[in-house]
Amino acid sequence: MANLAVKGVRKRFGGLVALDHASIELDSGRITGLIGPNGAGKTTLYNVMTGFLPADGGDVFYKGERVTDLAPVQLVHRGICRSFQDLRLFLRLSVLDNVMAAISHQQGERLWSAIFGGRGQERRNRERAMMVLDKVGLADRASDLAEDLGLGEQKVLCLARVLATDADVMLLDEPTSNLDYHEMKRMFDLINGLAAQGKIICIVEHNVELIVNLCHYVYALHLGRNIAEGTPQEIVKNPKVLSVYLGERREGVPEWG
Ligand SMILES: Nc1ncnc2c1ncn2[C@@H]1O[C@H](COP(=O)(O)OP(=O)(O)OP(=O)(O)O)[C@@H](O)[C@H]1O
Ligand SMILES: [Mg+2]
Repeated sequence: MANLAVKGVRKRFGGLVALDHASIELDSGRITGLIGPNGAGKTTLYNVMTGFLPADGGDVFYKGERVTDLAPVQLVHRGICRSFQDLRLFLRLSVLDNVMAAISHQQGERLWSAIFGGRGQERRNRERAMMVLDKVGLADRASDLAEDLGLGEQKVLCLARVLATDADVMLLDEPTSNLDYHEMKRMFDLINGLAAQGKIICIVEHNVELIVNLCHYVYALHLGRNIAEGTPQEIVKNPKVLSVYLGERREGVPEWG
């Protein structure tokens, strides 16, 4: 049984079918890729999996338990967290406060501790946030405003916010889009490290090279439907994927190692 299983999820926006029986499975220590052209339904699938949108049908199971349509905060408490394609950082807050806000969100329903935890709680959250920033290599930027980071570091900060919730399942929406080679390599190493610790990782990406070098298994969506799944090597040769997503691109894929 997969750790996290999405089964036949459907979602419509008026007349537009965004998800049409979409299914994926995620497991510990495995980096799963989710690809598809613009509008394929990748972000919508994350929105359903993380409680930001109700499904019209189908189910999401985590460790055998049905978690379909739970609220985002309930899913964060169960260890399922996502990053956003449009980052959603608090740009006028410091890097440290952005991470602390994610920790407070995770503690959101523990009202008693939020109100009466006082300085001790805040100190513990600050220490934890600093530990996370250290882990992702942003400790030296802790007191800078998030808006003063470059895009690469902002994306690392988004990952830090996911890490700060202590999530076991990390759904990352385009964590490397528009990054240069070095920034991408940094993110690649961070994500690989998290998988090596046993985290369950799903990554939405348009960068095929990254998908091939990072992922263990890949699902391809088109018009909300599963059109292919398999190892990255199988996926880049799949005729359906080539026609809808890669066009006729057939050149070799560089090694990242
Ligand atoms: N809140 C919404 N209201 C109406 N239509 C929506 C909404 N969210 C998504 N859609 C539509 O649903 C379809 C799937 O969108 P989605 O954002 O999931 O695609 P995507 O695969 O993430 O694309 P991209 O690679 O461009 O991020 C698109 O046609 C999109 O316009
Ligand atoms: Mg998207």
